Amino acid sequence: MAISRTATVILSVLLVSFLVSVESQQFGRRLSQRSLGLRKEKLSHFRIYFHDIVAGPNATAIRIVEATRTNRTAATGFGDITMIDNPLTMGPERTSKLVGRAQGIYTSASINEMGLLMAMNYVFVEGKYNGSSLSILGRNAVMSTVREMPIVGGSGLFRFARGYAEARTHTFNMNNGDAVVEFNLYVLHY
Ligand SMILES: *[C@@H]1O[C@H](CO)[C@@H](O)[C@H](O)[C@H]1NC(C)=O
Ligand SMILES: *[C@@H]1O[C@H](CO)[C@@H](O)[C@H](O)[C@H]1NC(C)=O
Ligand SMILES: *[C@@H]1O[C@H](CO)[C@@H](O)[C@H](O)[C@H]1NC(C)=O
Repeated sequence: MAISRTATVILSVLLVSFLVSVESQQFGRRLSQRSLGLRKEKLSHFRIYFHDIVAGPNATAIRIVEATRTNRTAATGFGDITMIDNPLTMGPERTSKLVGRAQGIYTSASINEMGLLMAMNYVFVEGKYNGSSLSILGRNAVMSTVREMPIVGGSGLFRFARGYAEARTHTFNMNNGDAVVEFNLYVLHY
């Protein structure tokens, strides 16, 4: 009798410690979308102008890596990397209202043509979007009329965002390399 009671106690202790260890190994759980305030997914469109200022004392696009040139890469600058903190404005003029900044890098990722890899966050500073950001990661064949880049995520009001950006060169200054690019962003978010 005493032995079987002891055995029962030991078994119970083992069972409880087994359950506790199962519990403590469980690091993921199901949540309802509503518990995070996620109701209906919306589609938003933003038209903004991206100022790639490479020249002068107020440059916001700085070449941080200049790659070794070979005959094949001389024309495309393959491997060069530029770090940007470019203004995003409502209109195409540099003095137009600032709505955000494009922060990140672009690098020449194509040996045979001008094809950039863009990896950047669009950080908004205007109205209800102030502090929210969108992450853009994609290919930018800068000589094409329209370039499409995926919007892969976001923060703040743009949590769970996805979509695409269309870029069109608005003006390109042949003398100093400065460019203004129109961006149309199509974003699904909550
Ligand atoms: C650079 O920025 C400063 C401060 O905002 C401004 O006074 C100056 O005119 C700018 N220079 C150029 C070349 O845009
Ligand atoms: C690069 O091009 C130059 C001139 O066309 C040529 O003389 C040289 O051999 C080439 N170098 C290589 C590594 O192909
Ligand atoms: C955006 O947010 C920052 C930090 O909270 C604040 O300092 C700034 O005034 C805000 N700007 C606008 C336009 O609301």
